[in-house]
Amino acid sequence: MKHIVVLVSGGGTNLQALIDAQHRGEIKGGEITCVISSNPDAYALERAKNAGIPGRVVPRKEYPDNKTYTEALLAVLQEEHADLIVLAGFMIILDKSLIQAYENRIINVHPALIPSFCGDGFYGLHVHEKALEKGVKLTGATVHFVNEICDGGPIILQKAVAVENGDTPEILQRRVMEQAEWHILPQAVSLFCEDRLTIVDGRAYVDYQG
Ligand code: GAR
Repeated sequence: MKHIVVLVSGGGTNLQALIDAQHRGEIKGGEITCVISSNPDAYALERAKNAGIPGRVVPRKEYPDNKTYTEALLAVLQEEHADLIVLAGFMIILDKSLIQAYENRIINVHPALIPSFCGDGFYGLHVHEKALEKGVKLTGATVHFVNEICDGGPIILQKAVAVENGDTPEILQRRVMEQAEWHILPQAVSLFCEDRLTIVDGRAYVDYQG
């Protein structure tokens, strides 16, 4: 069983989707063994507690920069024997020390179809604001491996979601979560834990035969 450690900063609906998928037996070959929050008040910690999963806090506020924060996080991840790190609404850009230590073992969910609406400054609700500003008719979500380029790592799964007339950023965010993120994140985590993902020349390939 691979140890899955989920990193969160806020509400944790993606964490909840992972917990629910685990309860349904849909995460094969892995188990969520720890949830780490950058924010002591994150509701995600409550979700972990309710599911009986140990929660830890590594508060971003206590460190002067992302580099020293990442070093502290790395020590905790090693203590937890993480095999897979899942960024589920984790709002901090990781320093390269952690990315190198866990090369191709960190997965992120992003609320747009990469390479659209991604990179520095594109996180949370801002992503949907930008999509609405542009007037795109389709958006969606992407699950990808994390490398040193922000939102630039190998793409594992994507799912498109329609933009509708009258959408607000909040309405669109909710639809993207419900129709895309909450499905493709648990799927990608299970694929990883079942060793069904391969990276060749910077691209991820899925073994659909299983
Ligand atoms: C999600 O939409 C996630 O894709 C996004 O923040 C939200 C967190 O919600 N993440 C990013 O923008 C990271 N670049 P949650 O805490 O309810 O899972």
